[in-house]
Amino acid sequence: MSGGTQNTPDAAVEPFDAVDVIRTKRDHGAVPEDALRWMIDAYTREYVADSQMAAFAMAVLLNGMNRDEIRVMTDAMIASGERMSFAGLGKRTVDKHSTGGVGDKITLPLAPLVAAFGVAVPQLSGRGLGHTGGTLDKLESIPGWRAALSNDEMFAQLRDVGAVICAAGSGLAPADKRLYALRDVTGTVEAIPLIASSIMSKKIAEGTDALVLDVKFGSGAFMRDVDKARELARTMVALGTDSGVATTALLTDMNTPLGLTIGNANEVRESVEVLAGGGPADIVELTVALAREMLALAGQPDADVEAALRDGRAMDAWREMIRAQDGDPDAPLPTPRETHTVVAARNGVLTRMEALPFGIAAWRLGAGRARAQDPVIHAAGIDLHVKPGASIVAGQPLFTLLADDDKRFERALDALEGAWEIGTDAPASTPLVLERITA
Ligand code: URA
Repeated sequence: MSGGTQNTPDAAVEPFDAVDVIRTKRDHGAVPEDALRWMIDAYTREYVADSQMAAFAMAVLLNGMNRDEIRVMTDAMIASGERMSFAGLGKRTVDKHSTGGVGDKITLPLAPLVAAFGVAVPQLSGRGLGHTGGTLDKLESIPGWRAALSNDEMFAQLRDVGAVICAAGSGLAPADKRLYALRDVTGTVEAIPLIASSIMSKKIAEGTDALVLDVKFGSGAFMRDVDKARELARTMVALGTDSGVATTALLTDMNTPLGLTIGNANEVRESVEVLAGGGPADIVELTVALAREMLALAGQPDADVEAALRDGRAMDAWREMIRAQDGDPDAPLPTPRETHTVVAARNGVLTRMEALPFGIAAWRLGAGRARAQDPVIHAAGIDLHVKPGASIVAGQPLFTLLADDDKRFERALDALEGAWEIGTDAPASTPLVLERITA
C-alpha cells in the first residue's frame, strides 16, 4: 500500500490511502499493521472522511478481521486518547463490563460489594440509548449524586472508598467515540471485531489491572445468538489478555428481564435491597458470580461474597460511594405520577416474559432516551410482580407501568403485545450463567 493522493492537497504527505485500505478489506485481505494504525489516526484527525470510514466499517462487518488486526485496531483507538493509570493506588483494580440488557442494574450492588474486600473498582460507565438502560441514568435518580468526576477525584475516591461509578471522560479513546456514532447510523454496529475493539479500547485505556466481562445473549441483548455472543466474549478475553489486562468473561442469559424492575429509580431501589441481603434471586446470583470472578482476578479466590451482602459490609461501601459523589443515600427516590397495572386474564403458569419488548416499553414510558441529548424520567419504568415459572390466578397483577404522563401507557402496551404468555406447563429452567470464558 502506498502514498495517497486523493483527499486534500496534504495527501502527498500522508503515508497511506484510505481507498487502498478499504479495498484491501473489501477483497477479504488483512490490512497491514501500519496502514490500519494510520487509518484510525487519520480518521481521528478528520483526514479520513466519515464516508470512507463507513465503507471500511461495512467491509469489516462483511469480511471480518483476524486476531492481529483486531489487536492493532484496539491499540490504535487507545493511542487516539489518554491512558489512565492507577499504579500509585496501592490496591488491585478490577472492573466489570456488561454488554447491556434489560433490568441490568448489576453494577450498582457489584462495585461496592467488591470494594468491601479492599479491591478498587473504577467503573467508568455510560448513559442509556435505546432499550438498554445506562448505569449513570439510574444513579442520577439519587438526589445530589454527581456522575462527572475529575481524574484526581476519581483517584482519591478509589483510594479512600474503593468503588467509583462515574462518567467516562471524553479523553478516553476519542477515535472510538467518532467511530461508534458513525456505526450507529450506518448499520455497522453488529460487527464483532468493531464491538470488541470499541469496548476493549476504552477498558484498556482506563488502566484497570483486571476485567470481568458479562457478555449477554438472548432477546434483550446486543447479540441474540449465543454462538455470536461466545465469539465476542472470546475475542474480548483475547484482547484483554494480549494487552496485559487479566480478563475473564461470563456468558449470561438475557432472554428475560433481570430482577423485578426496569427503569432508573426502581432499579436503584432493587439494588439497595440486594445490598441489604435481600433482592430477587437472579440479581443476587449474577452479582455474586461476577463478584467471585472479580475477586479471583484480584487474588482473593476464596472471598465469602454472600457474607458481605448479609452482614452490611457491602451496604456500608455503597453508602460511602454515594456520599463521596454528593448523593444522599437516605433521600427518597422519585416516584411516578401515574401507574397502570396489567393483570392476568386466566389461571396458569407464566411461561415467557420477553426482555426486548419490556425494555422497549420501559423506554417508551420515559425511562430511556431516543436521542443522546434527551433527558430520562427517573421515576418511569416497569415493576414486575412475577417472573416465568410463577403460578398465576386470573386477576393477579403481572406488572405495573410507571410514568409521569398517562398518555405514554398506550404505546408501551403496544410494545408489550405478545411479550408474555400464560400456559399450562412450567417452562424448562435455563441457567442464568451459561459459560465461563478464560484466556
Ligand atoms: N458498546 C461499546 O462501547 N461499543 C460497541 O461497539 C458496542 C457496545
